[in-house]
Amino acid sequence: MKLVPKSPNVRSTHPASLLPGAVGDFKKPVSRSRTIRIDFREVAIAPESLMDKFVIRGGNPLVGSVRISGAKNAALPAMAAAILTDEPVILENIPDVRDIQTERNLLVSMGAEVELGYGRASHRTTISCSNLANPEAAYELVKTMRASTLVLGPLVARMGRARVSQPGGCAIGARPIDLHIKGLERLGAIIKQEHGYIEASAERLHGGHIIFDKITVTGTEDLMMAATLAQGETIMENCAREPEVTDLAALLTKMGARIEGAGTGTIRIQGVEKLHGARHRIIPDRIEAGTFVIAAVLTGGDLTLTNCDPTHLGALIQKLEECGVRIRTAPDSMRVTNGHQLIAADITTEEYPGFPTDMQAQYMTLATQAQGTSIITENIFENRFMHAHELVRMGANIKVEGSRAVVRGKTPLSSAAVQCSDLRASASLVIAALVADGETIIDRVYHVDRGYERIEEKLKGVGAQIRRIGEILPKRTAAPSVVA
Ligand code: UD1
Repeated sequence: MKLVPKSPNVRSTHPASLLPGAVGDFKKPVSRSRTIRIDFREVAIAPESLMDKFVIRGGNPLVGSVRISGAKNAALPAMAAAILTDEPVILENIPDVRDIQTERNLLVSMGAEVELGYGRASHRTTISCSNLANPEAAYELVKTMRASTLVLGPLVARMGRARVSQPGGCAIGARPIDLHIKGLERLGAIIKQEHGYIEASAERLHGGHIIFDKITVTGTEDLMMAATLAQGETIMENCAREPEVTDLAALLTKMGARIEGAGTGTIRIQGVEKLHGARHRIIPDRIEAGTFVIAAVLTGGDLTLTNCDPTHLGALIQKLEECGVRIRTAPDSMRVTNGHQLIAADITTEEYPGFPTDMQAQYMTLATQAQGTSIITENIFENRFMHAHELVRMGANIKVEGSRAVVRGKTPLSSAAVQCSDLRASASLVIAALVADGETIIDRVYHVDRGYERIEEKLKGVGAQIRRIGEILPKRTAAPSVVA
């Protein structure tokens, strides 16, 4: 499906059908390319009235094989990187998830042409930013997806200016973007912050020395992209070492950037005058893979994950082995089996290659089923235990004390009506429901849809009992008149 900015003389498809979250948009695979023109002045976020739920009956072991999708967190910066060139960038292994559609909408709102193909077009997107007219990321899009701020660096580098909404707080913590801003200033950008927007400008960025106060994944990516077109050399220290950063550097290098050290704490970039188009395959999603691994472990299943990269899951695999799980890995697949009692083990979330914060919630569900006490320490985000309260409602014994959660197991889980609060918290509830006794109803699954590609279909394919039910609230009608 190709989205291009609407010109006034073109008949438009109703924007509602393209909203991130609209039924026709993300639920059905699009098997061929279509060109649709939409008016992004009218685009808003998914209507709250579209409240899909999952109904899950627990108890079935997951047996079989699941194909892991491309990494959302690698695809998002890769799409933003297309801003850096006027030639088309072709990205393969793009996951069919809502955040990708939000990013597509964002790029199109700026004037980019984005062709997004699924099915036979094999999860591919072609992005052409030859006619960027509007270097702005509006609040309506940024508030639904914080990673929208990834366009800040590329826009200033290529267009000389950017206007990006401040993201504000989110469910898991304050998540400021001050380090992106400080870094851009070090590269010569003039930054103004007013009316909730960051306005950055620079005739041409210049190289600089950036030492991140704190390790930030999207901050590293944003500034790495900005530095590719800056004049001179940029040295960035205390960088994020996540595989997604390395993948972005690989794409940028294919586009003509000169980058050394991606995947280490120090990255050096020699700015170039111009970048060109490229074709790149996005790495597999390590968090989706980890989520399925834990689901298989807890259901006593025998699951093979294909199209994954076990080397990106080192900390999780090591911890699961400590709990007594057997995992066999091959270069692009892994098999997990478990039929015996798990042993409790503590985790502390850290930057890569440490235990990922994006696997903390799913691990907490596992800890409820392990024998003994597990201490879970969350070091990256200050408010990332929302799932704990829902797990307690399902029978878990969890005490949250500041950045630590103490989980005492094993406690049987029983079905309940629970609610998703954020993407990974939702995954922990889906896993809990797969082992709970009875039928669990999980509300607000639009959080799951942000980052997991058709999770219910993948789970059903390996034996889970799960179905999606959509509840579309009727439009408000006039109150019936009261007959005396
Ligand atoms: C990325 C991932 C997210 C993951 C997180 C940590 C994407 C799209 N998202 O998010 O899934 O949970 O890494 O692995 O890749 N911070 C600041 N100032 C800043 C930037 C960050 O104080 O300017 C703080 C944050 O509040 C947080 C910590 O640094 O406490 C790490 O955040 P960061 O690595 O930036 O997370 P994201 O890149 O937003």
